[in-house]
Amino acid sequence: MNFKAISNISKSAGLRGFSTSIYAKMAQEAAPKATNMKKFKIYRWNPENPTEKPRMQEYDVDLTGMAPMILDALLKIKNEIDPTLTFRRSCREGICGSCAMSVQGENCLACTTRIPEGASEVKIYPLPHMYVVKDLVPDLTYFYKQYASIEPWLQRKDPSPANTENLQSHEDRLKLDGLYECILCACCSTSCPSYWWNQDQYLGPAVLMQAYRWMADTRDQMGPERRAKFMNHMNVYRCHQIMNCAKTCPKGLNPGEAIAKLKLLMESD
Ligand code: SF4
Ligand code: SF4
Ligand code: FES
Repeated sequence: MNFKAISNISKSAGLRGFSTSIYAKMAQEAAPKATNMKKFKIYRWNPENPTEKPRMQEYDVDLTGMAPMILDALLKIKNEIDPTLTFRRSCREGICGSCAMSVQGENCLACTTRIPEGASEVKIYPLPHMYVVKDLVPDLTYFYKQYASIEPWLQRKDPSPANTENLQSHEDRLKLDGLYECILCACCSTSCPSYWWNQDQYLGPAVLMQAYRWMADTRDQMGPERRAKFMNHMNVYRCHQIMNCAKTCPKGLNPGEAIAKLKLLMESD
């Protein structure tokens, strides 16, 4: 509805005493809104084109009427501007961990991170210090191998009789809070300087926190065997408690603290 239309309505409705401020407000609301443009600079690299070097590509995105998260902007770019832009995502609500990336220099989940209002441009890179599969997709093959190496499942020496549960007390169950919620997004490990430089040997905060999660589980009976695996100077002791991991975790977890508890467990043997 434009200004003229409002004017006509008010005349036809006989609104002679209509307040000018309300009248002006209606006209303002009816006027077409100014566009709300934001510049995104996004890391691009396509291994299928060997002559192409990694580069930053700029996209101007109109945020008007758009949902507010970084992932919403990426989807808009992919759907309306450049279908070749490649990134991972699935749940779009901070559960699957697949949309982890670096936004304005901080590791985060694109689906739960708001587009920064004040910034004139938004820089987006893949998770740092990882091989890149394409554009914003990091290669997590080795990260998952490290996770598998800690055997992240309940192990018992005397298996419970078939069809019975391994019960634990309410208090023992509470010891797993702050550990089991990890979604393996790798934001913490890829923000850890020790992991950057020693990734081939140091397991990193995400995997070590899960190692501790199984040692802290009172139903698990393989504690000594699990601890024996860490008896070398690289697996655990490369953590220097810098706490980048806790600062960056999008689920509010504290892997550095879990690693400190893991070290205490090892030293109590
Ligand atoms: S506390 Fe340990 S695991 Fe966490 S960032 Fe620092 S060195 Fe890495
Ligand atoms: S501890 Fe946090 S940052 Fe690290 S993998 Fe788990 S959810 Fe992601
Ligand atoms: S899309 Fe699943 S955590 Fe972001």
